[in-house]
Amino acid sequence: MRNITLINGDGIGPEISNAVLKIIDAAGVKINWDIQTAGADVIEKEGTPLPQRVIDSIKKNKVALKAPVTTPIGKGFRSVNVQLRKELDLYANLRPCKNLPSVKTRFENVDIVVIRENTEDLYAGIERQVDSDTAESIKIITRKASERICKFAFDYAVKNHRNEVCVVTKANIMKLSDGLFLESYRKISENYPMIRKREILVDNLCMQLVQNPEQFDVLVLPNLYGDIVSDLCAGLIGGLGVAQGANIGSDYAVFEPVHGSAPDIKGLNKANPTALLLSAIDLLKYIGELNVADKINNALFTTLKQGISTQDLGGYATTNEFADAIIQNLKL
Ligand code: NAI
Repeated sequence: MRNITLINGDGIGPEISNAVLKIIDAAGVKINWDIQTAGADVIEKEGTPLPQRVIDSIKKNKVALKAPVTTPIGKGFRSVNVQLRKELDLYANLRPCKNLPSVKTRFENVDIVVIRENTEDLYAGIERQVDSDTAESIKIITRKASERICKFAFDYAVKNHRNEVCVVTKANIMKLSDGLFLESYRKISENYPMIRKREILVDNLCMQLVQNPEQFDVLVLPNLYGDIVSDLCAGLIGGLGVAQGANIGSDYAVFEPVHGSAPDIKGLNKANPTALLLSAIDLLKYIGELNVADKINNALFTTLKQGISTQDLGGYATTNEFADAIIQNLKL
């Protein structure tokens, strides 16, 4: 039986985790979930939102499913997400954005995968106050990290039968830093003659994404543009409740929804488990459980097509009712 770490999070985390575990269990895949608590709820007992046992568990199991955790504001704790990415060197942030059945959006044929470099750029956190009226942030782009993420993007495209990898920069202005990212893309792309290449400036990309998103396939971006553009793409397919994600490195992978712990609806049995379920489906594919992944995906789509959804998508189902409907549809 495969061991997988589950960080069941806080806020709505435990509710949506329970729903998703129930669905996976009903689909017949045997997983031994190594459940690890983290986030606001463990601070009092363990003095940190990310105890070492959580990192150790992921290092042992290699793969984790993570529900959202609250980052306490102004208490001196670093974000659990940022810490996990650093500790496990999860250098690639993967955000597939594809329309779901019966989820109304402005566009119908969006199928974009955003691949964001996760470790450097302006997020390296190198800032200084030059004088009382001037602050400075330093943008770090290295050849090693740029080539690594571009290779990840092309490998992803090959493995997932995608046709194009488009690089997004502002290399016309930041000729050295974004220029290096672009140069790395061009070098790596030579090894993938079967994948179409495309280069676009980030401002033009944003305009085109809100006018004609169907034209894009896989996007690869430095950290800051990736952060912004991946949320834009989540908006194109229906927003937070349906946006899945993953942080992947050479040795470990953590699959998680894009949304946070939604403290405003905690404990109300209202949260939409779809984003966590889609992340879990990606996890199942990652560990080679392709049939079960497809089976759960089909049951989710059938449920949405039946008009059953949670309140955030305009429906009436509670978290549990939605999960139960998916379980019923697994049997079809
Ligand atoms: P949020 O994503 O938790 O909530 C924003 C709005 O979306 C709220 O109205 C919420 O009710 C709704 N929402 C979010 N997920 C939903 C779902 N599955 N079903 C139905 N409605 C949903 O963002 P917010 O309020 O900015 O952050 C709350 C906490 O979550 C913060 O402490 C933040 O640091 C943390 N956070 C954690 C993340 C993670 O663990 N990956 C990611 C983003 C935020």
